[in-house]
Amino acid sequence: MLSARIAVRPLSGAGGAEISGVDVARTLDAATVSVIRAALNEHCVVFFRDQDLDVERHKAFARCFGEIFVHPLLREANADPEVVMVRREPGDVSYFGEAWHADTTMCDEPPLGTILYGIEVPPYGGDTLFANQYLAYETLSDGMKKMLSGLGAVHSHGETRSIHPVVRTNPETGRKMLFVNEFHAKEFVGMTEAESRPLLKFLFEHGNRPEFTFRFRWRKGSIAFWDNRSTKHIALGDTGPFHRLMRRIQIRGDRPA
Ligand code: SIN
Repeated sequence: MLSARIAVRPLSGAGGAEISGVDVARTLDAATVSVIRAALNEHCVVFFRDQDLDVERHKAFARCFGEIFVHPLLREANADPEVVMVRREPGDVSYFGEAWHADTTMCDEPPLGTILYGIEVPPYGGDTLFANQYLAYETLSDGMKKMLSGLGAVHSHGETRSIHPVVRTNPETGRKMLFVNEFHAKEFVGMTEAESRPLLKFLFEHGNRPEFTFRFRWRKGSIAFWDNRSTKHIALGDTGPFHRLMRRIQIRGDRPA
C-alpha cells in the first residue's frame, strides 16, 4: 500500500525532485515503486535524504527498477562486480566523474539509471551537477532537429564501442532527448572525427547550458537516482582536504532508439 506520507518536491525548473516519506531500506510495494518511477521520468533525477542503506538493501532498491548492470570495464577491479565504490582522497587531481557525461554509453545497452549513495560526505564541496537532455533537445531549432534526426554517433571507451542515435526517445513517455556526451561520443556515423567535432562541440555545450542544469548538495545518507538516458552529470572537484566516499549501483537499460 502506498504510504500517505510520500511526497515528491521539485527542486528546480530544470529537473530534480526530492522524495520524502520513503524508507528505501524497507521492501517497497508496487505503488511506491511506481511513484518513484513516474517521478524519475518526469524530473530526470530523484533524491532521498537520511537513508540507511547497506549494500544488500542498496541492491534490493535497484532491483525494484530492473536488473543490476555490471560495468564491463570495472568488473575485474571490483570485489563485488555489481558495486562501484566512488572514492575521493584529499589532494586527488583526477577523479571519477570529473567531466560531463552519461554513464557507460559505450555499451550497446547503457544503464537505464544509476543509484549513488553517500557514505562519507564532505561538510561542503563535492556536489553533483545534472543537465536535463529533454530540455537540451526541445530548445534546438527545427532545422537542427531535422538534421539530427536519423543521425548516429559512435560512443567508445577503450576498445568498447557502440553506435547510438543522437536523438533518443524514452519508450515509457515518448519524449525525445539529446543523447551525446563529451566523455564517450567521438564522431557521427559516416563522418570523420574532424568533421564531427564542431557539431559535437556545439551539442555538448548546448546540453550543459546553465538553465538546463541543477545541483545536488550531498549529506551522509543521501541518495541520487538519475535517469541515465535523459541526463548528463558531472562531479565537482572542490572537495579540497576532505574524503568523499559513495557507493554506486546501476540498473540495466535497453538499446537506445
Ligand atoms: C558518477 O559519475 O557516477 C559519480 C558522480 C559523483 O561522484 O557525484
